Amino acid sequence: MNFCEFDPLSSVYTHSTNHIVSSGRGCELYTTTGRTLLDFTSGIGVNSTGHCHPKVVAAIKEQAEKLIFTQINCVYNESLGRLCQQLKRVVPAALDTYFFASSGAESVEAAVKLAKHATGKANVVVLHGSFHGRTHLAMAMTTSKTGYRLKYPNLPAGIYVAPYPYAFASGRSEAAEAAYALAEFEKLLNTCTAPEETAAVVVEPVLGEGGYIPLAKGYLKGLREICDRHGILLVVDEVQTGFGRTGKLFSHEYDGVTPDIMTMAKGMGSGLPISGIAYRGELGKKWIAGSHGGTYSGGPIPAAAAAATIDVVLGEKLAHNAAARGKQLVAGLRKLQAKYPVIGDIRGRGLMVGVEIMNDDKPDPDKMRDILKEVYARDLLLLSCGLRRNVLRWIPPLVVTAEEIDRGLGIFAEALEAAGY
Ligand SMILES: Cc1ncc(COP(=O)(O)O)c(C=O)c1O
Repeated sequence: MNFCEFDPLSSVYTHSTNHIVSSGRGCELYTTTGRTLLDFTSGIGVNSTGHCHPKVVAAIKEQAEKLIFTQINCVYNESLGRLCQQLKRVVPAALDTYFFASSGAESVEAAVKLAKHATGKANVVVLHGSFHGRTHLAMAMTTSKTGYRLKYPNLPAGIYVAPYPYAFASGRSEAAEAAYALAEFEKLLNTCTAPEETAAVVVEPVLGEGGYIPLAKGYLKGLREICDRHGILLVVDEVQTGFGRTGKLFSHEYDGVTPDIMTMAKGMGSGLPISGIAYRGELGKKWIAGSHGGTYSGGPIPAAAAAATIDVVLGEKLAHNAAARGKQLVAGLRKLQAKYPVIGDIRGRGLMVGVEIMNDDKPDPDKMRDILKEVYARDLLLLSCGLRRNVLRWIPPLVVTAEEIDRGLGIFAEALEAAGY
């Protein structure tokens, strides 16, 4: 196979590497030229159970032989019933009602549509630096970089942006940063979108595309309190952080807060396209039946993959492994930081770890790109992110072993040395 075969592919896609892969297992991808890649990107957080986990593969095969598709408005499919019961094992009990879709952006759309009907209000607040997807509404809610919105005029209105607490950039303590961001949120309600016109605030518990920044301690609790005071719904976007990724089943559990609506996608289906929202059932009383849906909502094969994924996440204690391997990764990175001053902040939760590449006290996207090039040359796959384009993001499958983390760290050390920083 060569690149001619990909000629018809739209040029709208960007590509980090030119590898053509034909198979994968666990944390490894195998290329058509015989190379083995250590995949610490997990398909941007999708392959939580690793590539081709045998239990997920078996569930997909079994379901495909029985029934490939039925439409949710026509009949109930048995596989979706199983998934509903499986979700009860992992989703906070207060969020007792589920709606399904296929992508993360659709889950965000669903959350906002539900919030509008449930509150009778129109506006939505998002936090600066967030990524919520690429449909027109999700794009309007996305402020991680202008590239996503450039020359797509007339985005939906009614979206307001409050600061995301980012202590490393501001130089404030985490507590001071949380207090500042909460005060700014209240300022927005006083000056731009009145509480009686604000349906919801949508928050990533760890800012993803915006730079792998866990929410400052106390911020989500403060936000919950403001929302309760004003009848604003709290939506946590757990599309990237969910299903064990951050060391807990869902990342907002770190903050001791229950949201009104939670989005889910990515790691939910181990690669089969399935997403959804979980919400407080009473909100749904005002969600007008038939006003939302989708042809592929809750299809049997993605549902079977998601049900099997939950079995694997719980059975193999993957949230626990994410916490342990995340600690190991951060400890290894800190050792490298002592030797390579180009490494600034190292932060994250579980297996969602960001490393800021700095030139003294300034973010350095060029050095970050140089290092990433050296990493790719050594067959380790990492990603970049960050408002200042200088963050290396580590997001290995949750099945990653201690040896594989050490292997990744070893390659990273070589790459830093080769880049000469
Ligand atoms: C937090 C968050 N929300 C929403 C999305 C959009 O998901 P999708 O690309 O599946 O539409 C993403 C994707 O990266 C995400 O990280």
